[in-house]
Amino acid sequence: LVLVVDFGAQYAQLIARRVREARVYSEIVPHTMPVSEMLARNPKAIVLSGGPSSVYAEGAPGIDTAVFTAGTPVFGMCYGFQLMARGLGGEVAPTGAREYGRTAVTVSEGGTLLGDIPSAHTVWMSHGDSVVAAPAGFDVLASTNVTPVAAFEDVERGLAGVQWHPEVLHTEHGQKVLEHFLVDIAHCRQTWTMVNIVDEQIEKIRTQIGERGKAICGLSGGVDSAVAAAIVQRAIGDRLTCVYVDHGLMRKGETEQIERDFVAATGAELVVVDAEKQFLDALAGVTDPEEKRKIIGREFIRTFEAAEAEVLAPEIEQSAVTGDGAEKVAFLVQGTLYPDVVESGGGAGTSNIKSHHNVGGLPDDLEFELVEPLRTLFKDEVRLVGEQLGLPGEIVWRHPFPGPGLGIRIIGEVTRERLDILREADAIAREELTRSGLDRDIWQMPVVLLADVRSVGVQGDGRTYGHPVVLRPVTSEDAMTADWARLPYDLMERISTRITNEVREINRVTVDITSKPPGTIEWE
Ligand code: XMP
Repeated sequence: LVLVVDFGAQYAQLIARRVREARVYSEIVPHTMPVSEMLARNPKAIVLSGGPSSVYAEGAPGIDTAVFTAGTPVFGMCYGFQLMARGLGGEVAPTGAREYGRTAVTVSEGGTLLGDIPSAHTVWMSHGDSVVAAPAGFDVLASTNVTPVAAFEDVERGLAGVQWHPEVLHTEHGQKVLEHFLVDIAHCRQTWTMVNIVDEQIEKIRTQIGERGKAICGLSGGVDSAVAAAIVQRAIGDRLTCVYVDHGLMRKGETEQIERDFVAATGAELVVVDAEKQFLDALAGVTDPEEKRKIIGREFIRTFEAAEAEVLAPEIEQSAVTGDGAEKVAFLVQGTLYPDVVESGGGAGTSNIKSHHNVGGLPDDLEFELVEPLRTLFKDEVRLVGEQLGLPGEIVWRHPFPGPGLGIRIIGEVTRERLDILREADAIAREELTRSGLDRDIWQMPVVLLADVRSVGVQGDGRTYGHPVVLRPVTSEDAMTADWARLPYDLMERISTRITNEVREINRVTVDITSKPPGTIEWE
């Protein structure tokens, strides 16, 4: 276990991911956790993340210097580097020149940390103050034009740090530097693999659910719920029932794919609820995005709860009649991921949160206990677990798709007819993207129908007056920020030609070239 101490600047999650990419398990803890508590968890190493720009700023978060003297190896990055320097008697001062973005560093002496790193390379910086003198006992390894001490180490004591951000993609050799710390300085063993996770989780779930407990899982069609369900199915077999609500806002072939591929791969019991009419009736006449989202969310919960009642109530009644001591508790499987856990402040939390549902048809005192087998995982790890479990590539590598589905990709009122148009266009775009082999380079490519917009075109001999669609291809690491993807022109051409030829109502294809921010990925 490596602990990543979060100083509150959004870098901690990325660092934790990079540590795991080095096959060392990591968790994030808040900087407010007492050092004694951190050490009590017996970490093999501690990493201090970046944070606010200056250690001298008012209210700047700190850490008890005991963290540096306990014998546990510590690595400081950016702000964490400055905390280490200052905490051990070095000197941190405003040099008057800020460094932000890509910066050239010069490695003077590689040492253990920068051993095989080229002496001149480019890193990502974001700081105002600089370390001007390293603490006693440290070797200075690198510098920049502005920063005399940009990296240092004291291998004897297991302490090291860099002024830059090794975790971001713009930093050259960042992962190598991190691995040098983890492996060569902290002597961590690189044993964290997806096989281990699956086995561990299956054991855990069996213990939690017991010999007779029943569980239910809502499938959304997305990778998270599919992988969560597949693990639980492995653990408890047909005591798991999966419920899939088809709200009619799914993409072409999506429901059939779940029915076919998911069941084939897992053998799970699947209940498909056809709720298209209910959703479309509720959405009739609605154009406001927030209102659409609220309606879809509300109808979804209603439908899912009714399905829960239908699946679980007879089981529970049965166990009460036969008095076979079956536990009354039922389990609800959720595909909660680690970033959700961290963001809701439960970084070190456990998984036995109880949620009370008051579902029509179920006993009032029925408690659902949550089963969240992906609580410690990042999205990319979930995909690897999915592969490990034998789920088909179409499920594991599919792009994220929002819960409200195509409902928020039709700008204007959502109707069955418009959904069908969008489904066709979207299917063509996805098919061509997949064929070009770019699926894994692109985070998502929503296709948006501007249903209330019409423009004039010409097709064959005739004038057309059709709708435009917008392609929204983006690259991203976590959907918090995104860049518009530079798709090859010939791919865009194929998509455009096919959509305008094959979907009668569409006579124009456009591409959204806005990054996030300022644009969001979805249009609504
Ligand atoms: P935005 O549009 O905010 O989207 O840039 C960020 C990511 O979240 C997805 N998204 C949703 N996912 N329920 C979901 O499960 C939702 O209501 C929802 N809205 C947006 C979006 O597809 C993108 O990946």
